[in-house]
Order: sequence, then C-alpha cells, then structure tokens
Amino acid sequence: MNAMYEGKYPLGTALARPLIVAKTVEVARREGADAIAHGSTSKGNDQVRFDVTAKALAPDLEVLAPARVWGMGREQEIEYARRHGIPVPEAHKKYSIDENLWSRSIEGGPVDDQRLEPPEDAFKWTVQPEKAPDQPTYVEIEFEGGLPRAINGERMDMLSLVKALNQIGGAAGVGRIDHIESRLVGFKSREVYEAPAAVILFESHRDLEKLVLTPRELRFKHNVLDPYWADLIYQGLWVEPLRLAIEAAAGEMERWIDGWVKAKLYKGSVQIVARDSKYGTYSKELADYSKGWYPTDEEARGFIEMWSLHSLTALSKRSMDKK
Ligand code: ARG
Repeated sequence: MNAMYEGKYPLGTALARPLIVAKTVEVARREGADAIAHGSTSKGNDQVRFDVTAKALAPDLEVLAPARVWGMGREQEIEYARRHGIPVPEAHKKYSIDENLWSRSIEGGPVDDQRLEPPEDAFKWTVQPEKAPDQPTYVEIEFEGGLPRAINGERMDMLSLVKALNQIGGAAGVGRIDHIESRLVGFKSREVYEAPAAVILFESHRDLEKLVLTPRELRFKHNVLDPYWADLIYQGLWVEPLRLAIEAAAGEMERWIDGWVKAKLYKGSVQIVARDSKYGTYSKELADYSKGWYPTDEEARGFIEMWSLHSLTALSKRSMDKK
C-alpha cells in the first residue's frame, strides 16, 4: 500500500498496535481475564489505536489505561517503573522510543524542538549519512504480485528480507526521517524515525508500479488508495471496513506488479536506477525519438485539438466575462 503517513512516516508504530491488541486479547482469553491494560497516556495516538481495536475484537473486555486514569505523564511513568523494579532502558529516559521490525520512532526530549537538528544519539539503526561509505551500495529487489521476494537474487521470507534491507540501508545512512506530524489527537508533533527497509521498499515498489500500471490506475492508487489507507492506519482505524475495500481494489492492481528494481544507496539517499517487468508498459520502440513510430502532422494536430477542447472552450467563455 506504499503507506507513508503525510508522505513521510511508514507507520511502524501505528501498524503494530492492532497486532499487539490481537495478541493481548488472545492471552486474555487463555487466562480467562476480564480486562486488558496498556500504558498510553491521554495525549497520544496509541491509546486510540489500542482502545478502538480492543473494542472491535473483544467488546466484553474492559480496557484499563492506568496512566490515563491516574493522569500520569512520562516522567511519572518512568518513576513508577523504577519504584516497581521494571527496567527502563537508558535511551528511553531521554526520548520516547518505539521500535519494531518496520521502524524505530523517536520522540520527546531534545527532538521536541522543531528548530533543531536531532542529536546523533537519537539514532541507532542508521549511520550518519556523511559517515556512510564513499562508494554506493546497489541492491536489486524482486517483486511478485506486489510483494518483495528476493534481494540480490536470493529468495527469502519477508521477515529476513526486511531485516536484511534494514541492515544494508542503515549502513548506507538510508532511512532517517524528520517529520512534522499531524497527530490524530488535535496537535502537531515533531517526530524522528529510522526505517531503512521501509524507505527502500517504498521507493522500489512505487517505481515498479509506475512501469506496470496504466496512468489512471497509477493516479488512483498513489493519490487516493494509498494515502487513504495510510490515514486509516494512522488514525487507529485498522478495523474500519473501508480498509478491506481499499485493499481489494489495490490487490486487483498488485496482481501485475512482478519484476525487479535496482536501488542505489548512497550517503542517505535512495535512487532507483533500473527496473524491469514482464507486464511493463514502457516500450523503447514507442518512446524512441530517433526512429520507429511517428504520428503524422495531421494526426498530431487532430489529437491536440480534441485534447485541449474542454480547456480552451472554458477559457474563451471566461475571458468574455472577466470576474
Ligand atoms: N508518532 C508515531 C505514531 O503515532 C510514533 C509514536 C511512537 N510511540 C511512542 N510511544 N514513542 O505512530
């Protein structure tokens, strides 16, 4: 789904929440519990994602959010953990960090000042781009039905593939994201992320879609389906029925996304430098300016006349009555 919230955030945290709830409900059922709990405060997005998914999956289970009930902030939560012998990693005292396969989210502390570049100690998965190797790293990714299946000719399961891309990308300084983010709870926040695999796959997959999809499919997917899907995920609405409808429409197009993409990673940047697909609609013969197919002058003029007719008609109407 090329999911990048507001064009930038690959949604690692947001995507994880519904899954965490599903697993929590599983455990609650096994234990015969009548409630589940989470540690979100009343200020964040995560409380919404946890609560909404829990209500959908297990309406009979009560959801307890002690930090919310007791009105605790982060400092109080850390203090509470300390008093009860729950270890809190050092980095988590300075920043609020959430980490999983898809992304590492860093917020709070020094990152809260949007006028300052994030300090280097905020990052863990990526080398500082200026310290990345002076030679580019090439990685070739193969897709089948829209899903990445192999890198550099080696087939692997998706877990290994994402881990490998996080490694390769991180070493090249790829995947640092600095984002002013519209929170779903009514205010903006400055967020920093590390997501090398997500960024590489986003660029690669979108590139292959451009080769294969018709211009109409492409616009509908990139401008409508993808951002709409990302918004649902961000806003805690994984369970919203529309998600499945969007996925069905996208899935119809993804059937044809077979092929490979070559990405060039260099000091923090990702460039797609080559690609091919058996369903690709690019034709060198059609595109070539020096030979092959050429419309006649008359054909071209006729096409242009009809093509522009709507716009030119409207323009002439409006110029009669200048408002
Ligand atoms: N802003 C991101 C989101 O809402 C990341 C949140 C990270 N969560 C955290 N507790 N640090 O998805």
